[in-house]
Amino acid sequence: MTQPAKAVRRIAVLADLHFGTVNPDAIEALLADLEAAEPHAVAIAGDLTLRAARGEYEAAAGFLARLRKPVLSVPGNHDIPAYNLLHRFADPFGPWRRYISPETEPVWHDDQVALLGLNTVRRMALHLDWSAGRVSRPQLDRLAARARDLAGRTLIVVAHHPPRHPPELDRAYPLARGDLAIETFLDAGIAAVVTGHLHRHDAYHDRGMLFVQAGTALSSRLVGGQPNGWTMVTVAGGSVRAQARALIDGTWQDAPRPDQPRPPARGDRVRSAYPVPAMPPGRASAAE
Ligand SMILES: [Fe+2]
Ligand SMILES: [Fe+2]
Repeated sequence: MTQPAKAVRRIAVLADLHFGTVNPDAIEALLADLEAAEPHAVAIAGDLTLRAARGEYEAAAGFLARLRKPVLSVPGNHDIPAYNLLHRFADPFGPWRRYISPETEPVWHDDQVALLGLNTVRRMALHLDWSAGRVSRPQLDRLAARARDLAGRTLIVVAHHPPRHPPELDRAYPLARGDLAIETFLDAGIAAVVTGHLHRHDAYHDRGMLFVQAGTALSSRLVGGQPNGWTMVTVAGGSVRAQARALIDGTWQDAPRPDQPRPPARGDRVRSAYPVPAMPPGRASAAE
């Protein structure tokens, strides 16, 4: 008996909205672009606010309510109190739970796709950069168990901090245990991991898994001349691919392929491929 053909699924990935730095016209333009793209669900990879202030959270919650799609959000480092250390340490995710979601690691799925939230935000670190993220072994164990429960679907992890930084980005503190996270994802059959935090868009395949880096969807805090952007992840025919959208000259459009692919580091098996070509199912390496 033949299996029924799998339907296409489109997941809109937004990150780093940073309400508190957002111009209202940008909100309307983004909502219009999202509506035209007709995603089945929206994944928001953290940093919905700038300082976890009440007004910022209220604006973020109002935006989510207008999406009129299933929405899965995970916190970013800006979504816990930055200056009120009492709140930061006593109840860092209190505002998140009040305004966005009772969960910091939500799950959304239908019969073909599952989004698995992973909370990489920590209230402090042993080094000075408290914006950096970390995952724990129990978190990864829980994610793997959820992946087993949802087997048969295309599995997508949603987190704020990327599990590794691109080789040309010299950041002092990448995600702690990022390599362990990647190995866990591979063992669990994760098809894609979508993240934010860097305010730049990118996408590449490595070891059969798609890494998607969404730009900042709304914030005026632009990095490296990158425009505002979001990324559509499309699951079709057993493959997962990404296409970024970018706000260029006031118009939302497909982001062009960079003129120069980013340089791979020595021994690096990853090559930027943007827009990402569809990959056949399985564990084929993207290294070329
Ligand atoms: Fe951010
Ligand atoms: Fe961030």
